[in-house]
Amino acid sequence: MSRDVAMNSGAPEGRSHSDSVATLLRGHNVLLAPMAGVTEAPFRGICKRFGAGLTYTEMVSAKGLHYNPDGSGSRNLLTMSPEETPCAVQIFGADPEMMARQAAAICERYGDAVALIDVNMGCPVAKVVNKHEGSALMRNPELAARIVRELVASVPVPVTVKFRKGWDDDLLNAVEFAMAMQDAGASALAVHGRTRAQFYRGPADWDAIAQVKRAVDVPVIGSGDVFSADDVARMLDETGADAVMVARGAQGNPWIFREARALLDRGERIEPPTPFERVDMAREHAAALVEFAGEHAYFRMRKHVAWYIHGMVGASIMRGRVNDCRDYAELDALLVEYRQFLSDGVHDGDVSEAGQHE
Ligand SMILES: Cc1cc2nc3c(=O)[nH]c(=O)nc-3n(C[C@H](O)[C@H](O)[C@H](O)COP(=O)(O)O)c2cc1C
Repeated sequence: MSRDVAMNSGAPEGRSHSDSVATLLRGHNVLLAPMAGVTEAPFRGICKRFGAGLTYTEMVSAKGLHYNPDGSGSRNLLTMSPEETPCAVQIFGADPEMMARQAAAICERYGDAVALIDVNMGCPVAKVVNKHEGSALMRNPELAARIVRELVASVPVPVTVKFRKGWDDDLLNAVEFAMAMQDAGASALAVHGRTRAQFYRGPADWDAIAQVKRAVDVPVIGSGDVFSADDVARMLDETGADAVMVARGAQGNPWIFREARALLDRGERIEPPTPFERVDMAREHAAALVEFAGEHAYFRMRKHVAWYIHGMVGASIMRGRVNDCRDYAELDALLVEYRQFLSDGVHDGDVSEAGQHE
């Protein structure tokens, strides 16, 4: 398929939008992947500060926005922090008109803060898939294409799609699906190299990403098994992708963006954060989350704290104590105490992952 056909069939602006995504990614090609329940605005802001090129909101239900326009649930997911904007907004659904109306409303409401509208066609969760949303759209490329066409016709920003290698081993259709999405007017494509059947298990197939990259003209973003700066460089190299998304590799580790940029830009391998930096970041993250979402949000820090201190001395005992905290003040005090504990042990030189006694 020629680039002109691909670009023009979905939308006359397809080419310029695709070029603008390419420009957005150039030199900013290490992105924070959308992760529901993890990548809230405060964490996205931290990752951006460490060098994430683009951040994505957690997936937001078009139906949720439609039926509950003033409700806090879906709306809160759209709150972006000033330090991360413009930010990619990810929506999901299966009703093209409803999705287009909601996406247009998002663009109107948030204006320049919206870098692009991304459509989730990769979520494997049963309650999403059973409504023909998320990765179920990979089994229904006609509907998926209609969604993209409606969105492209309705919003002033680029429309992109995030999908998987396929539905299962009997339907490995990433390449055909990618071409259909490009044809429908998508300006960039993100590919997670696992099937829906795999959920998040097993190795991600980077070759599926490389195949998509070879088949389309729009920018391609690779996702799956990126846990270090070296993985970032290797995925870019092995797949030819224009950008890479970091997902679980960023949990408790926003420094991965700084490390990846140092490696990509200067060929440097920089030191990982010290245990003290990790505890300090957990405190900063908790404070920002409570400020953003209210006092009750301290609860949502439990998993983040576990990730920040993973592999550090005393981490398992700490995890139990964090889970017993009843408010933010208690959580913060516990982190201060833990920092002191690490500091007291410093004479052994033994607070890093290398010296574990867990
Ligand atoms: C807890 C969690 C939540 C996720 N939520 C979303 C989401 O809202 N939208 C989406 O497109 N992908 C979501 N993903 C998928 C990731 O963006 C990414 O594609 C996937 O985790 C593969 O990358 P990894 O192997 O490096 O973790 C989620 C993944 C995890 C682990």
